Amino acid sequence: MLKIKKLILHEKIILAWYFLFFLALLNSCSQEKVVKNESIKNEKTVTRTAEQLVDSKKNAEMSYRELMNILGSGTTMVQLGILMENKQMIIEGSGLILNHAAPNEDPWLIMNKQDQEEFKNSLLSYDIILDNYAREIAEKAKEEDWLEVNKKTYELINSCVVCHSLWRHKVK
Ligand code: HEC
Repeated sequence: MLKIKKLILHEKIILAWYFLFFLALLNSCSQEKVVKNESIKNEKTVTRTAEQLVDSKKNAEMSYRELMNILGSGTTMVQLGILMENKQMIIEGSGLILNHAAPNEDPWLIMNKQDQEEFKNSLLSYDIILDNYAREIAEKAKEEDWLEVNKKTYELINSCVVCHSLWRHKVK
């Protein structure tokens, strides 16, 4: 009788191992899917046009300049949050940069015709750069790594200023 009980226990353990193995297999498959999906998403962001970028965002009744003022408030909020060590303030400030709507008039129309194509390229590449910094800033804030948040914020604002040095004087 004892032997049979032992055998049943043995079988149960083996079954449990099979089950765990199956779970691990399922998990690794789904992780692979996530990785694949992300690389597809990245390709999309790289190959899309400025028109698709604007279409992908909520349109709002505002000018490009008004959008810039929102980005300005976002960075100010992040900077204050760093000084106050208020991580929610940093997360919400970077959220303003990450989730901003698009102006209802195509942004490239603020440039002269001959500059519009190049400005579209800047819009596309800087959108990815700003989003990545904003995401990193929020992540580091969650970890309360203030020095790293500050470093990334410097880099974020630096990319704003680089784009300004390229384009602000060309606005018609
Ligand atoms: C794709 C290029 C580009 C990027 C990136 C960019 N800006 Fe701008 N920004 C402009 C242009 C062009 C203007 C001038 C708009 C105008 O005069 O109509 C401007 C103007 C501004 C202004 C002044 C608005 C006013 O009322 O005169 C602020 C503030 C501003 N940007 C903040 C930011 C911040 C903060 C970031 C980064 C988080 C940023 N910008 C990123 C192109 C850019």
